[in-house]
Amino acid sequence: MTHTPQVADRLTADQAAAARRLADDARAADGTAALDEQTLLRLDPGSARSATHVLLPDDDGSGLAGYAQLAEGSAELVVAPSARRDGRGRALLGAVKEADPAAAVWAHGDLPAARALAASASLTRTRELLRMGTALAAATRPEPPAGVRIETFDPAAHAEAWVRLNAAAFASHPEQGSMTLADLRERENQTWFDPSLLLLAFDDGADAPVGFIWMKPGETASEAELYVLGIDPSAQGRGLGRLLTGVGLAEVAERGRTEIDLYVEGDNAPALATYRRAGFDVVERHAQYS
Ligand SMILES: CC(C)(COP(=O)(O)OP(=O)(O)OC[C@H]1O[C@@H](n2cnc3c(N)ncnc32)[C@H](O)[C@@H]1OP(=O)(O)O)[C@@H](O)C(=O)NCCC(=O)NCCS
Repeated sequence: MTHTPQVADRLTADQAAAARRLADDARAADGTAALDEQTLLRLDPGSARSATHVLLPDDDGSGLAGYAQLAEGSAELVVAPSARRDGRGRALLGAVKEADPAAAVWAHGDLPAARALAASASLTRTRELLRMGTALAAATRPEPPAGVRIETFDPAAHAEAWVRLNAAAFASHPEQGSMTLADLRERENQTWFDPSLLLLAFDDGADAPVGFIWMKPGETASEAELYVLGIDPSAQGRGLGRLLTGVGLAEVAERGRTEIDLYVEGDNAPALATYRRAGFDVVERHAQYS
């Protein structure tokens, strides 16, 4: 059957609600969310962030059988569980590629249907993002070696040094490495932000930190997220990543959290080694196809 998607720069409130319902249904059926947090925020008719929305109405016109969103060169698409195997995924992908032939498409959960669609459209896997997780046991907090001290982030004293450290640690990861002081301040204003979950490592006698670990409380009272870990390139390979991960895990365990997860690029060998050593295993794979 031929499906003709509608393309819009902005959704109505009804369309946004229908897209959220569709995302919820797909999440329940697939066990993984097809649309990530940023994509859901851009559904909001009042969102300041621009996006191209691709809509496939359902048969009675009251909801959506398919939805895709393209923003900043990357796209996500979702077909209602009851409307699959009927060409809608291909139609959404076609509309996305028409809007931006270079668009990369995320397949969250890397499900077989997404793999098959990507193969049939001759797309290749260009990036893999892994979610890793581990249970937290009451752990002893590792002691820093002589010459290293750990301090809690102080927004007034450490913000500018943190921005420089983050840019250096993530020089080859543009999304994270380009965070500015304004981006940091924006995060400090989020309800989840807790400065005592952002820990900095210093070499004794130095004012600038050489590493940091930043954690978030999770969605439930038992969960936490390891949000970012970064070590200055001049201090990598000294065991500081391992130390901060151990300290961070002990910190959230002491607060009663029993599970922690994180996202990491599939080709980031030093980070994968650090997290596996700390007990993390891969729990979900997200693939990007181009
Ligand atoms: C990932 C990172 C935090 C590791 O910190 P580090 O202090 O350099 O690592 P450590 O010295 O504590 O070593 C931890 C583990 O990583 C391994 N490792 C370190 N550098 C490595 C490299 N270049 N290649 C492969 N493995 C490496 C170590 O062998 C060790 O594993 P082991 O315990 O099995 O021996 C650091 O490389 C970094 O800041 N990278 C850039 C930012 C980043 O990618 N952060 C994580 C993204 S979420």
